[in-house]
Amino acid sequence: MVAVALGADHAGWELKEALKAWLIDQGHQVLDFGTHAPDSVDYPDYAAQVAEAVAAGKVDHGVLVCGTGIGMAIAANKMPGVRAAVCGDTFTARVSREHNDVNVLCLGARLTGRDLAREILQIWLDSTFAGDRHARRVGKITALEQRLHANGCR
Ligand code: RB5
Repeated sequence: MVAVALGADHAGWELKEALKAWLIDQGHQVLDFGTHAPDSVDYPDYAAQVAEAVAAGKVDHGVLVCGTGIGMAIAANKMPGVRAAVCGDTFTARVSREHNDVNVLCLGARLTGRDLAREILQIWLDSTFAGDRHARRVGKITALEQRLHANGCR
């Protein structure tokens, strides 16, 4: 069982609610940052909260849902320590964990149906980082991030 932070904008909130119910049903812990209604909101506000919870170690993983997943991924990846990726199929979901140690899954509610999204989430949660040469590569991403931040991101 894992702890998962959830966030969505107006385009993703219905799918987020469905995934939340499924996660709870599976016995996982959920930290839901919203949104909880169809009213228009700005996706970076939700990406920031989920990314912060993941980076601070308050949860094991994050899941963000917007129309395409793209805006959420761009915003979440600004947070040091976060590796967010849009996954629209189960192969990408598995490899994003095994090779890239992705810790925030981004989904596009306007592209990915509820059943497929649930399958993607399940496979993503069940997959683990393969380490070895992938650890070296992810380590280089972390080193780049640390160097940029030490220099004020110049
Ligand atoms: C909102 O209309 C839409 O732009 C947003 O959900 C997302 O797709 C952004 O990447």
